[in-house]
Amino acid sequence: MSKNNDELFKNVISHAKEYGFVFQSSEIYDGLSAVYDYGQNGAELKNNIKTYWWKSMVQMHENIVGIDSAIFMHPTTWKASGHVDGFNDPMIDNKDSKKRYRADQLLEDKIARYEKDGKSAKAEQLQEAMDQALKSDDLTGLRDLIVEHEIACPVSGTRNWTDVRQFNLMFSTQIGAIAEESDKIYLRPETAQGIFVNYLNVQKTGRMKIPFGIAQIGKAFRNEVIARQFIMRMREFEQMEMQFFVRPGSEMEWYDYWKQTRLKWHKALGTSPEKYRFHDHTKLAHYANAAVDIEFEFPFGFKEVEGIHSRTDFDLSQHQKFSGKKIQYFDPEINQNYTPYVIETSIGLDRMFLLTMINAFEEQDLSEGDKKDSRTLLRLHPCLAPVKAAIFPLTKKDGLPEKAREIMNSIKLDHNVIYEEKDAIGKRYRRQDAIGTPFCITVDHQSLEDNTVTIRERDSMQQERVAIDKLNQIIAEKVSWKNLLN
Ligand code: GAP
Repeated sequence: MSKNNDELFKNVISHAKEYGFVFQSSEIYDGLSAVYDYGQNGAELKNNIKTYWWKSMVQMHENIVGIDSAIFMHPTTWKASGHVDGFNDPMIDNKDSKKRYRADQLLEDKIARYEKDGKSAKAEQLQEAMDQALKSDDLTGLRDLIVEHEIACPVSGTRNWTDVRQFNLMFSTQIGAIAEESDKIYLRPETAQGIFVNYLNVQKTGRMKIPFGIAQIGKAFRNEVIARQFIMRMREFEQMEMQFFVRPGSEMEWYDYWKQTRLKWHKALGTSPEKYRFHDHTKLAHYANAAVDIEFEFPFGFKEVEGIHSRTDFDLSQHQKFSGKKIQYFDPEINQNYTPYVIETSIGLDRMFLLTMINAFEEQDLSEGDKKDSRTLLRLHPCLAPVKAAIFPLTKKDGLPEKAREIMNSIKLDHNVIYEEKDAIGKRYRRQDAIGTPFCITVDHQSLEDNTVTIRERDSMQQERVAIDKLNQIIAEKVSWKNLLN
């Protein structure tokens, strides 16, 4: 990470804490690694991202419906899905520091170092060898690469490595009072399986016709060994996933459709297009016949935010096999029964949240001549902003607070607005800029006479005098989902 990017990332993290977006979980007990809580503004921003996704996927598509399945599922689900046997990371321990690392992560760090030092041929060669070893599950090959490229433990500095072993990422617990092996259940590592096991229920009760999709938003859990980069890689996180069921043979057409549709969703937020790119998977997951990541340029490089996977009929066929229930679709157009193929779109809500914060964060120098001034603002899309408008009485007396509260009461049914009377107006503006509030409304003495207020726009800082009864409409136009969902 360059010094500037490193600083930007650190500033975003401290801003997220200072302004009530993200806190370390159980911070008073020194925190829990890779687990985070969302604060008062973070929860609002997160909800708005969810709403944007849900509206665009469910509300805007006649053939997509949403569900909310449980986190706990029958343990056979995970046997059938392949997660019990195949949801592993290749891990290696350093015998001196006793620290455990993901073997591919150590190699990726080395590749990044080669690139930084201008040794691109070496970087390319190592990348190819690593992809090959991962593809063929060659654990000895991964270890050989670590030794060959003289990778040392960042803690002990030694190259005293164990063999590479597979480590399952699922958390398990017991259901009921008696802890026996047969009672072992898992915390879901993806929300997708809750959709697959409900395929028949939804298809029948919703009388869904292929192609159709089932969407859901929910928590997922992974015992990530290497947890870093703030909320990028967490042990408890949230996914927004959609499984789109299609006729076998048409899956590549839908794969392309969803690739373009999802990228459009990202770009509609106003992010500059060069910040995004597609990255085709070299190592396909056990269920996929094609997969691509939508990557965003974070301060620490291009990283995956969302995956689009062509999952074939793997999951439904496996659940049919393990449950003994017929999971098929009768297609009246071709007069045939078949197991549908699936295109999945899967986006990490927390990664989208981080992307949004980084993209919106701006430190502005507003100095004029000798007069030093600056502000930190979040240029959030108004639809995503936690608070849509802040209402300020100019002073705490002369009936201005009462008038401001009256205005607030007339707007709060439609929009999330807040009231603030503490500190000078300038300070109040800065606090709202820092959380991305699109509008600040100031009630002054003139307001009592002619029922007008000043309204200040966040990005331009322009102020305008408007009639109080126009406020609701001004805010509504700016924060309307129509601005994003065309
Ligand atoms: N159902 C497919 C699936 O789960 P994935 O690529 O493992 O695919 C999908 O995960 C998305 O979930 C990723 O693109 C990422 O945004 C998010 N994600 C995965 N692991 C995560 C973690 N440990 N912390 C935060 N987000 C994560």
